Amino acid sequence: MIFQQSSVDLIKARSSWRNYSERPLEPEVRGKIEHFLAQSPKGIFGTEPHFYLIEKTSEDEKIKLGTYGLIRGAQTFVVGTISVTDPGYVDFGYLMERIVLFLTDLNLGTCWLGGTLNRGEFAKALNLPDSQMIPAITPVGYTDSDRTLREKIIRFGAGSRSRKGWKELFFDGNIHKSLDEEVAEKYSLPLEMVRWAPSASNKQPWRVIKETGQPHYHFYLKRTPGYIKPERQIDLQKVDLGIAMFHFETVAQEIKLRGKWENRQLENLFERDAEYIVSWIGE
Ligand SMILES: Cc1cc2nc3c(=O)[nH]c(=O)nc-3n(C[C@H](O)[C@H](O)[C@H](O)COP(=O)(O)O)c2cc1C
Repeated sequence: MIFQQSSVDLIKARSSWRNYSERPLEPEVRGKIEHFLAQSPKGIFGTEPHFYLIEKTSEDEKIKLGTYGLIRGAQTFVVGTISVTDPGYVDFGYLMERIVLFLTDLNLGTCWLGGTLNRGEFAKALNLPDSQMIPAITPVGYTDSDRTLREKIIRFGAGSRSRKGWKELFFDGNIHKSLDEEVAEKYSLPLEMVRWAPSASNKQPWRVIKETGQPHYHFYLKRTPGYIKPERQIDLQKVDLGIAMFHFETVAQEIKLRGKWENRQLENLFERDAEYIVSWIGE
């Protein structure tokens, strides 16, 4: 098991925190995080993103890491990097959400940031070569027990507490028939946890089609029309798909559903702006 608490509880407990205590991480907690980051496995598609724990003010006092004032108080960040020439966005999302839930397990606050960060400053703090880029980061730290009003307003503005329903996300055999929980049987829990995944601007671009008569679940990315990629064409909606895959897999494993990811090279069954990503082939 990767986590102490159940994945379902962690997924439910996680939400984006934008206000942090200035208290630095306890050395023991820091050690646990560094150990976890150092042991990050390869992604499902075989790419190897790297993850670093860095301080707001690095050793070079001139570098101050920026989040455009949106994140308050955070002293420490997890920063992830991938290759520019072979960008494994899906793998990145999958592995970074594994880290985010690990931090949730340690009772720490996090907030995925793919838009509101100064990438140049973070790259400088890491001495990042041009061949690498930063798709997203998260602050990590202790949170105050209750959310501030400011936080609630930002969350409300992002529609953070709402998620699309099953009818819009999950399909039975083809895109014209929505999937009922009874048909998904035990897989209704992993799917429900896909639904609660975080996504950039809460757009929830994941769509899943169940194969008729089989526990096979085909994952598609349905792009949000007009959604603008941040600088350097970083594909945050593919990152979102990786996050959803991690939720699905970790919960399936927890309830002893066996299966594996496969690229079945399926065609796009949705109308426009959609693409096939990967399939979960359950036994
Ligand atoms: C890939 C990705 C990028 C994100 N980028 C930002 C960001 O730049 N700024 C921000 O305030 N929130 C960002 N978020 C957080 C989302 O707005 C948030 O996850 C979503 O609204 C759902 O709310 P919740 O995380 O509280 O469940 C990002 C989330 C993801 C998954």
